Amino acid sequence: MANERLDPLITRVQIERRVQELAKEINAAVPTEGLILIGILKGSLHFLADLSRQLPPSCEIDFLQVSSYRGHKSSTGVVQIRKDLDISIEGRNVLIVEDIIDTGITLTHVLEFLSTRRPNSVRVVAMLSKCKAKGVDVAIDFVGFEIPDEFVVGYGLDFGERYRGLPDISILRDSVPASS
Ligand code: PRP
Repeated sequence: MANERLDPLITRVQIERRVQELAKEINAAVPTEGLILIGILKGSLHFLADLSRQLPPSCEIDFLQVSSYRGHKSSTGVVQIRKDLDISIEGRNVLIVEDIIDTGITLTHVLEFLSTRRPNSVRVVAMLSKCKAKGVDVAIDFVGFEIPDEFVVGYGLDFGERYRGLPDISILRDSVPASS
């Protein structure tokens, strides 16, 4: 931890404003009555909490826990479902709530997994996306911020389970250790 440095990328004020805008975009484009918000744990925790409070109270909330990073800085490529949904999404309109789309591997897997449950529609909102920076081609309906291809923490995003509670989003860099 001594060799880790946090460089600010997106402030809590920018996040707050963007969440409000996203909620307006979603309200305008999606029939929100009876919509099921599916937060992908654990990273979406803060975003889901903030976004859901800007959407109609009739929206239901459930969680799917998927993990592919397991404490590493890059995806292992192996996606595990660690917690299934509690409620049936058959015939329902669903909004997947993600903190970040990086390689798109997790989202692709989640979309495949949810399609087997026969929802009426599935849309995706991601607070952060590296798709443009990395040339990743996955369908995301609503994006908070397109960010550069850097490892980011805060606002739910972790490194080895640390930093999730930071209210701002920062780039995690290795700092050069002081010479002795
Ligand atoms: C992170 C993040 C996304 C996924 C995105 O989850 O929350 O779900 O990685 O990466 P990808 O586009 O390269 O698949 P992670 O597996 O780190 O679990 P966590 O949310 O519990 O930290």
